[in-house]
Amino acid sequence: MGKKFYATTAIDYVNGQPHLGHAYEKIWTDVLVRSRKMEGLEAFFLTGLDEHGQKVQQAAEDHGLDPQEYCDRLAVDWRAFTERLELSHDDFVRTSESRHKQVVQAILNKLQAEGHFYTSEYRGYYSTRQETFLTDRDRNESGEFDEIFAPVVELTETNHYFRLGRHQEWLIEHIEAHPDFIYPEYRRNEVLGFLRSQELEDLCITRPLSRLNWGIPLPFDGDYVTYVWFDALSNYVTIPAVLGDPVVCGALGLDCSGKPGVELWPADHHVVGKDIIKFHAVYWPIMLKAMGLPMPRQITVHGWWQKEGQKISKTTGNIVDPVKVIEEWGLDAFRFYCIRELDLGPDGNWTDNGFEARYSGELANGLGNLVNRSLSMIRRYRGGVLSAVHDDLKADAEHAISVARGKLSKPENFRRRCRQSGGL
Ligand code: ME8
Ligand code: MG
Repeated sequence: MGKKFYATTAIDYVNGQPHLGHAYEKIWTDVLVRSRKMEGLEAFFLTGLDEHGQKVQQAAEDHGLDPQEYCDRLAVDWRAFTERLELSHDDFVRTSESRHKQVVQAILNKLQAEGHFYTSEYRGYYSTRQETFLTDRDRNESGEFDEIFAPVVELTETNHYFRLGRHQEWLIEHIEAHPDFIYPEYRRNEVLGFLRSQELEDLCITRPLSRLNWGIPLPFDGDYVTYVWFDALSNYVTIPAVLGDPVVCGALGLDCSGKPGVELWPADHHVVGKDIIKFHAVYWPIMLKAMGLPMPRQITVHGWWQKEGQKISKTTGNIVDPVKVIEEWGLDAFRFYCIRELDLGPDGNWTDNGFEARYSGELANGLGNLVNRSLSMIRRYRGGVLSAVHDDLKADAEHAISVARGKLSKPENFRRRCRQSGGL
């Protein structure tokens, strides 16, 4: 069967409704996957939801719902969204599913048995309202903690920690030796700069039940749930494990007999936004290293959309509702604009005028006209049938096809080269 091309999106928090940023990331990944499938290669596309943690527990509480019920309701909307975008995804993972919890617990058990974790006591200032530990950065000019944190108490808390530091040198070497590991290059440089300039702090991988109960129980200590990012990142190996991928099952010591044995790992692309690069380019590689799994080929990092030059924000109502745009203009136009307007990497700016200009200029007058005229001339002058008369254009056609293939083979090549007016 052989290894399939495997691409993932981030899994989205279910504390709200999908917006343009989520749509963009999913469409990009869909384009990557479809281009492989078009070439006749086997490809697998994973997307899904990140359901645990404080944020989601809080959102559920605000709606007066039990967290599982809250997630189940929102998952309906998020799944419908993937259908609305006509994604070609092969699975949809939800971190509250038992198939995922089992894999996370297997990972935790393995890493615990191999000495990657330790427990430690932390003493610090804690905001009960914000449910977070505070640092000196949270103090205002007069040295006090801001009103928004009150009441602040001094708290001692014991947690389980993951030793990251021992892998820091290895990670630097891995990134240096694999120039494509983080794309684009300026993001790679950012990560390298960070890793070279400071010692990695160990990662706290638990939350005490007394503080948070909406999470995956720590299999070796009943007083804790797993930190939401440790849980969420693991989703990328959950589905390979469920499908009996021999590489993942072997490393985690899972029994994959009776499973289809689909070969997915290592992933080819983890497509994520720039705000979560540290989790994907630092924590996740170290987690994989500790698990004994090979590294993904690329962390593919996209920028952020703004609308009309301002941050997309639910509170100010400055949003682009993808579903509304699709209803008004059609799905192809929406997908086209997202990919055409914004290269993979920089930040982008949605403007309603820009959308309409591309719609009428490039889609209707450009591509649409070309197709329409060609079809009507073929009908009028050739009776609707094209027979091969000569091969004068053969070389040009083959060249165009091979250029297109080259561009589709790596996101690095996707970048727009033709900036002449109307050129695609
Ligand atoms: O971060 N423009 O979830 P999330 C472009 N659950 N992309 C945007 C964006 C914008 N305005 N806003 C968000 C999480 N995104 C975690 C991920 S992965 C193991 C766990 C992107 O719902 C963001 O960068 O906050 C991220 O890649 C994705 O949407 C989900 O964001
Ligand atoms: Mg976010």
